[in-house]
Formats: sequence, C-alpha cells, structure tokens
Amino acid sequence: MNLTVVGTGYVGLVTGTCFAEMGHRVTCVDVDSRKIENLKNGVLPIYEPGLDAMVANNVREKRLDFTTSLPEAMEHSDVYFIAVGTPPGEDGSADLQYVLAVARTIGQHLDRYAVVVDKSTVPVGTAERVRATIMEELQKRGREVEFDVVSNPEFLKEGAAINDFMKPDRIVVGAESERSIDIMRELYADFTRRSHERLLVMGVRDAEMTKYVANAMLATKISFMNEVANLCDRMQVDVENVRVGIGSDSRIGYSFIYPGCGYGGSCFPKDVKALIRMAAAHDFYPRVMEAVEARNDEQKGYLFGKITAHYGPQLSGRTFGLWGLAFKPGTDDMREAPSKVLLQQLIVAGAKVRAYDPVAMEVARAELPAEWFEQGHLTLVNHQYDALEGADALALVTEWKPFRHPDFDAMRRLMSPDPVIFDGRNQYHPESITADGFIYYGVGR
Ligand SMILES: NC(=O)c1ccc[n+]([C@@H]2O[C@H](COP(=O)([O-])OP(=O)(O)OC[C@H]3O[C@@H](n4cnc5c(N)ncnc54)[C@H](O)[C@@H]3O)[C@@H](O)[C@H]2O)c1
Repeated sequence: MNLTVVGTGYVGLVTGTCFAEMGHRVTCVDVDSRKIENLKNGVLPIYEPGLDAMVANNVREKRLDFTTSLPEAMEHSDVYFIAVGTPPGEDGSADLQYVLAVARTIGQHLDRYAVVVDKSTVPVGTAERVRATIMEELQKRGREVEFDVVSNPEFLKEGAAINDFMKPDRIVVGAESERSIDIMRELYADFTRRSHERLLVMGVRDAEMTKYVANAMLATKISFMNEVANLCDRMQVDVENVRVGIGSDSRIGYSFIYPGCGYGGSCFPKDVKALIRMAAAHDFYPRVMEAVEARNDEQKGYLFGKITAHYGPQLSGRTFGLWGLAFKPGTDDMREAPSKVLLQQLIVAGAKVRAYDPVAMEVARAELPAEWFEQGHLTLVNHQYDALEGADALALVTEWKPFRHPDFDAMRRLMSPDPVIFDGRNQYHPESITADGFIYYGVGR
C-alpha cells in the first residue's frame, strides 16, 4: 500500500519506518524543514535504538522518503496517518491545532477515497472534528469525495519503540465502515501474524478513550506505589520488599510498581491532564486521576526533600553529580523529566550540578536555560564518573543500565569526604552502599 505519515517525531517516524520495513511504500511528512532535510541526509531527529539503521535501509530500498509537502505526498497515497504532537493547551486539555491543520490540508487536496488515521493521542470526539474539518474544506472546493476517519492510537514505548510496533500487545482500531476496517486489517496483517485477536476493532470514541485510559492506568500504578513509598519512609518499612511482596501476586504483577522520583515524558503527564479536562467538560470530578497527578508533581520534589533534610535548605558551596537527564532510560526525550525539577531546585538553592546522561546531552543543552550554563550552575560532562569530581553527593534520577553497577571505589575517590548517594530509582542495596562508605537515601526505604 502507499502510505503517508504526517509528523516525524517518536511516533510518526517509527510508524512510517516499520510499515516500510513490511514492504509498504511510505512518505513521511513534517512541517519542520530542518528535520526533513536532516532525515534526507540520514540524520534522525530523535534517539531510538535501531531506528537509524532501519531508516537507512528503507530509504535505500526506496520504500521510505521524506518531504515537507503533504499535498505532494497525497498524490500517491491511500492512507494518511496523523502522528503530530498533541501537547497540553493552557487549561491542560489536548491542543488539537496540529491535528486539525493536517485535516484541513487533507480536505484541501483530497481527490479520491482515502482512510485518514488518527494515530496521535487525541480526546474522545476528535475523529468527528477531523471529519468535519475535511468535509468543510471539500465543500469549499465543491467536491464530494468519500473518506473514512479511523482512530488507531499508538502504544509504543520510547526506547523499545521498534519492538513494540513490530510485535504489539494489541492494535486498537476504532472505525465505523467495513471498507476502512478491511484496509486497517490488511495494513496490520503482518504485525498480527502471531494472533489475529491482537487487532481489536471497536467504536471510534472507544478507541480514543482506550489510549488515555491505558496511560492513566499506568500512571496510577506508579503514583500509588510512590504514595506507598512515602508511607514506608515514615514507618521503617523497605518499600522494595513490599514491591516484591505484592508484585508476586499474579493479580497485581511487577510492572509499573517501581517507586521512584516521579514519572515524566511526553505522554503520561499530558494524557492524565487531558483526561482530567475531559472529565471536567462532562461535569465529573475525577478523584483518582487528580490524585495521581498531584502525587506525581510532589514526587518530583522527593529527592530534593531528602537532600535538604540532609544538608539543610542552603546548598551554596555544594556540588552535586547528577546521573540521568532523560525522563527514562532508552530515550533522549526530556519532556516533563523529573531531572528538570531537581536541577531547578538545586540551582535555586545555590548548588552547582555536574550532570551526565548517556544520550540526552544534546537535548539537555538545547532545552535547559542557557544562563545555567553561562553562570556556571550546571556543567554537562562526557562521562558518568566526571560528574562526581569534587561532588558532595550523587543524585541518580534515570535508571540507565551503566549506572546499575558502578565502580564505588572510584566514586568514593572522586567525591568529597562523607559522600552521599540520593538514589531516585532504588538501584542500589542500602546495606552494601553503606558498607562501601556512602551515606545512602533511596525512595521509601
Ligand atoms: N512519544 C511517545 O512515546 C508516544 C507514544 C504513543 C503516542 N504518542 C502520541 O503520538 C503523538 C505524537 O507524539 P510524538 O512524541 O511523536 O511527537 P513529537 O513532538 O516527537 O513529533 C511531532 C512532529 O509533528 C510535526 N508536526 C506538527 N505539526 C505538523 C503539521 N501540520 N504537519 C506535519 N508535521 C507536523 C512536528 O514538527 C514534529 O516533528 C502525540 O499525540 C503523542 O501523545 C506518543
């Protein structure tokens, strides 16, 4: 099939590349001309393991190309995936301006039957708005062209995006017409070989809701466990033992119950917010989701709380090594990252920070306030151990694998006397760290 994917971010680029890998002919479109220029030269806008080789291969095989012109891409496409951003607007609801702009352009150029697929995470009712926008443009042109709007939310995880796309737990398709359902089935047939039940067909609004509820459920598990960790702190209980104790219950399971210093990223925070806004729009107060969000906002300040409890509120003259800037391992994405909150708090309290991340350094340099660098509050270093030179303490914020078994002797030699570790992801064993000569603070232990 000939496909167009609009938006070449984490979702669009992975979607386009994976369909190309399955033999489809894909054009990826983005309004950001620099991104498209880079992609044409083999430079990816994001870090995602394995993606660069796959892009290069499909470009070489002429199954994948890039353009800034959606009308041009539409000339030879039957299916359009909308995979642009849906960031939170001022009131927390999803900002649909990018999605609707794409719909408008489609309406201005559509000249034969096509399926328009909402892959972006969009509030319930968006497919109807996309349809109305396209219809409006068709009417302006005096054209009658048949088309279907389908909701096909994406569940991939950054850092494991290719595997998630290639071997999905499920593919959700919200569609009303048999014609569009058949096309979606054909398109995804290669990805559902192992089990046909993986393609779940439902109403469009149900599909839109499913995506938000999936993310809100995962965020709920994290916030619940973080709340438990705070309680454990006050009761001389090690939350890590509690985690294993409950995770082994098959009704509960181990995933997403790791206590830590808060969730971030481009999805959970904004999707929980958007769901809260959707509830408000229907005069419903979502008690659980409000609490999930509030707990997470507080949890991002957890490490700073431990730090000031140890050193006092004034941190001038203190240096902190910070490991991990990305919101989670496996990505360079720093949107809503807990590291940003901790950096801000440390710097306002007068501390100096030396930070390291295996892949997010470039993003950090571009996204963090320039004055932090200029005024010497923050230094980005090229190696994890360089972050510890002369540092009073280490704050571990992202659980990248190279941080799991570091050389503690080397660390002690680099750091100031009485070194402290603030372990925001419970990566270390308190007893052995203490035996190694560190003062240790984890989350909820
Ligand atoms: N990142 C994830 O892990 C993930 C997972 C599942 C779902 N989602 C959802 O998928 C959507 C996209 O997320 P993302 O992280 O890939 O976003 P992103 O910000 O990485 O990429 C969005 C891209 O869309 C482009 N764009 C904006 N307006 C455009 C237009 N009119 N025409 C063409 N391109 C345009 C931007 O330039 C940008 O490159 C969001 O709704 C998000 O919630 C994201």
